Amino acid sequence: MRIIVLGAGAIGSLYGAKLAGTNDVTLVGRPDHVRAIQQTGLRIEGIEAQTVRVGAITRVGKLEPNTLILLTTKVPAIATALEPVAPFVRDDTTVVALQNGLNSEAVVRKALRGHGVVLRGISQFGAIFERAGVIRYMASGYTLLENHARSQRIASVLNAAGLDCRIPADMTTEVWRKLVFNCVVNPITTIIGGEVGEIVDPRLTRLKKLVIDECLTVAAAEGVSLDTALMAEINAAYAGSHNIVSMRQDLLHGRVTEIDYLNGAVVTLGQTQGLDCPINDALTRIIKGMEATSRNVRSGKFTRNTGETALAKPQTPAAVHPVRE
Ligand SMILES: NC(=O)c1ccc[n+]([C@@H]2O[C@H](COP(=O)([O-])OP(=O)(O)OC[C@H]3O[C@@H](n4cnc5c(N)ncnc54)[C@H](OP(=O)(O)O)[C@@H]3O)[C@@H](O)[C@H]2O)c1
Repeated sequence: MRIIVLGAGAIGSLYGAKLAGTNDVTLVGRPDHVRAIQQTGLRIEGIEAQTVRVGAITRVGKLEPNTLILLTTKVPAIATALEPVAPFVRDDTTVVALQNGLNSEAVVRKALRGHGVVLRGISQFGAIFERAGVIRYMASGYTLLENHARSQRIASVLNAAGLDCRIPADMTTEVWRKLVFNCVVNPITTIIGGEVGEIVDPRLTRLKKLVIDECLTVAAAEGVSLDTALMAEINAAYAGSHNIVSMRQDLLHGRVTEIDYLNGAVVTLGQTQGLDCPINDALTRIIKGMEATSRNVRSGKFTRNTGETALAKPQTPAAVHPVRE
């Protein structure tokens, strides 16, 4: 299959590396990452180690018939990433949106003005962008793909590459399930400036419960019924992890986070249902405040006189417990 991975960072490069063995794969990424891949190949480290020769470019110039685009930018980058691609999208082009959170597929459809087929995906793999040309493979998992006439063929291709693709009966419930995990672990561990595993701290139990309860209430109003053992599942999934959530990594690098598509999206949806979500709203506002501070610090508008803050030097996640977000 002809596959373009648009936004080849951590997860996109991992998928591209796995798919490159038996498919015609091209990674589309930032210049330094692309240059490194062109010069020495894409290096995968972590739970699997290999160097993969795969095509890499910085901009799409055309799309062949029946191309699969795996869209793996963060949500705020979707529109800009698709802008140069949109004119080439054909009816036989399929775009799989692999972002966390709510509404990425709607953002994609808007950017493509209804062209092509857009499918929602969820990745339960875990990867970190180590440096240009090098990805750290943190956790193996599976891929969920929305059901559609084209899904079975895509699933076969992903399965052949070891990406364990499942087509669930109810994708919406799966999206919400992962959303709740992310609404808990991303903002809370970012605000406390901690590792992922610190989410199990009993002092955070009441906060986690409030976040989960609001999410479940909005989900129910949307007709989505989630089981109520989520707190225990979250604790079990993240206990012992020394990883750092992507939200905190984004702030450490002065980037905008995905908060608007996580807790912020729950708040917005709640408003349309007449449901107040004060805890998710507060977490969203705190993270947006931290985004502004983070960017100001990066742009040199402010200086800090303390070394150890939530914005201290990014830690390299060495000896990291396998975890996915
Ligand atoms: N990493 C994981 O383990 C994981 C697991 C499951 C789901 N996800 C979800 O997958 C999505 C991607 O996550 P990620 O961790 O892979 O993020 P990431 O490492 O930041 O990868 C995204 C890459 O896309 C690049 N990019 C953005 N705009 C581009 C453009 N116009 N052209 C070319 N490249 C562009 C980014 O470059 P810049 O950084 O320079 O903008 C970055 O290298 C997120 O929604 C995340 O929630 C991630």
